[in-house]
Formats: sequence, C-alpha cells, structure tokens
Amino acid sequence: MTAAISVDNAFVRFGDTAALNGVSLEVPQGGCFGIVGESGSGKTTLMRAVLGLQKLEKGEIRIAGRVLGTDRGGLKQRASIIQPIFQDPAASLSPRCRIGMLMDEVGTVLGEAREETRGRLNGLLRRLGIDPGVVDKYPHEVSGGQARRVAIARALLMRPSIIVADEPTAGLDVSVQGDLLNLLQDLRQAENITLVVISHNLAVVRLIAEDAIVMRQGVVVEGGEAGALFSAPGEPYTQELLASWPHISVRQ
Ligand SMILES: Nc1ncnc2c1ncn2[C@@H]1O[C@H](COP(=O)(O)OP(=O)(O)O)[C@@H](O)[C@H]1O
Ligand SMILES: [Mg+2]
Repeated sequence: MTAAISVDNAFVRFGDTAALNGVSLEVPQGGCFGIVGESGSGKTTLMRAVLGLQKLEKGEIRIAGRVLGTDRGGLKQRASIIQPIFQDPAASLSPRCRIGMLMDEVGTVLGEAREETRGRLNGLLRRLGIDPGVVDKYPHEVSGGQARRVAIARALLMRPSIIVADEPTAGLDVSVQGDLLNLLQDLRQAENITLVVISHNLAVVRLIAEDAIVMRQGVVVEGGEAGALFSAPGEPYTQELLASWPHISVRQ
C-alpha cells in the first residue's frame, strides 16, 4: 500500500543549524504515527516541510504517493489531502475573523454551500464538546483548550485523509490532555484518517501512536512499532526520554 507520507533523505538548514539532517520515514496509511524528540530536534521543521511550508535543501517528500509543489496550486492540492493542527491554534487562526468565517472559508475552498458547511461544522463541534455558538467568537475569546478543538474542527471540515498535529497537548491542563488525545483518536477512527502526532512528550506518543520515530538533532535515531520501541528502546537517547517524561492522566 502507498504510504500516506514518505520522506526520503530530507535536509533543511538554518544557518549553521541542520534542522533536518537526512531524514527518511514512511507513515503508513490509517492509524496513528508518532514523532517524538526533545525541543529543537526538528519535528516542527519536518511538519512544515511535509505541508509544503518549508523548502527542502535536498530530498523528496511524497504525500499519498505524489510529489506536490510548494506553489499556490501545490499548496491547495496538499490542503485537500493533509491538514495541520499547529502548536498554537489561536495564533494560527486569523485574529480578525470570527471563527464562523474561518470555517466558511473551508466551504468556499470545497465549493460547498454555506448551509452544508455549517451543518457539518455543527456536527463536528458537538462531537468535540463545543457549543456551536463559538462561531460568533474571535479566536482570542476562547480558551486554549477550546481553540485547539476549534482548530481540530477546522482541519476535519476539509475532509483530509491525513492530519498532522504538532504538540496537540501543549499548554493544556494535564487533566484534559488525555481527553483530547482520546478525542483525536476517536475522530481519526471514525473518519478513517491517518493521524501524525508530534510531541516532545514521549507519554503523549506512547499513549496514542501505533508506530513512531524518535528524532534528535535533525536525525531519526530509531523507529518502529510504538509498544516495542518504548518498552525496550535500543538507543540511550530514547531511554533518557522514557525516563524523564512525566506521565499523562487519562480519565476512564
Ligand atoms: N525559521 C527558523 N530560523 C532559524 N532556525 C530555525 C527556524 N526554525 C527552526 N529553527 C531551528 O531548527 C532546529 C529545529 O527546530 P524545530 O523544527 O522547531 O524543532 P522542534 O519542533 O523539534 O522543537 C532548532 O535548532 C531551531 O532553533
Ligand atoms: Mg516544535
């Protein structure tokens, strides 16, 4: 089966920093794929490259088997297949637009009637546990947890086959982190989406991912089935991550 995302020997440099130093990986279709590594290891750069927001110095990225451009057309094509949930959702939603307007833009892109988009949106917001009245608010008027759920709703509204979530639990109260991950997992299953979860917190990736890679200084140090990887890591770096990260609480 064609990989959802395949990255072949990707290089990105910022000055003297090699943010991606020959990264290769294959994200299989379906399921949840985890990317873990300490801050500065290149996770967000990798995500931006996959989204076409960061050019590669060298290497190739295929989304659902295709190499897509970084021009307007390429970005539009990507957006219909792969949707991001950025680390700071409030900042990634335009501050001057009410949330409803940001959602209507998705309908415009899809060529869908406004009522249909709003109908689908209401269903999604309900599943995410948000009052549909949120559409009348501005992004800065909602809490961090709500903003992240709004960003998830907007990503799902595009009907993507892949979602990439960067640090989805960052800034959230520990008590709601597990809930949000469970919710993402449920939505992924219901919509048959490939989910990529990026986190510096190994507990997050361990909780949700079936397969994972560990990044350090722009390099993939190891990867494999998440259960095996984290119960018996081969690399000292992964062992350190495993020993140092706090656990996450999940309400049953
Ligand atoms: N736009 C940028 N300009 C300069 N350096 C950057 C930029 N983006 C990332 N970096 C550097 O690249 C490295 C990887 O960063 P990043 O991909 O954000 O890591 P992570 O998401 O794992 O914390 C870091 O050393 C970071 O400082
Ligand atoms: Mg990051």
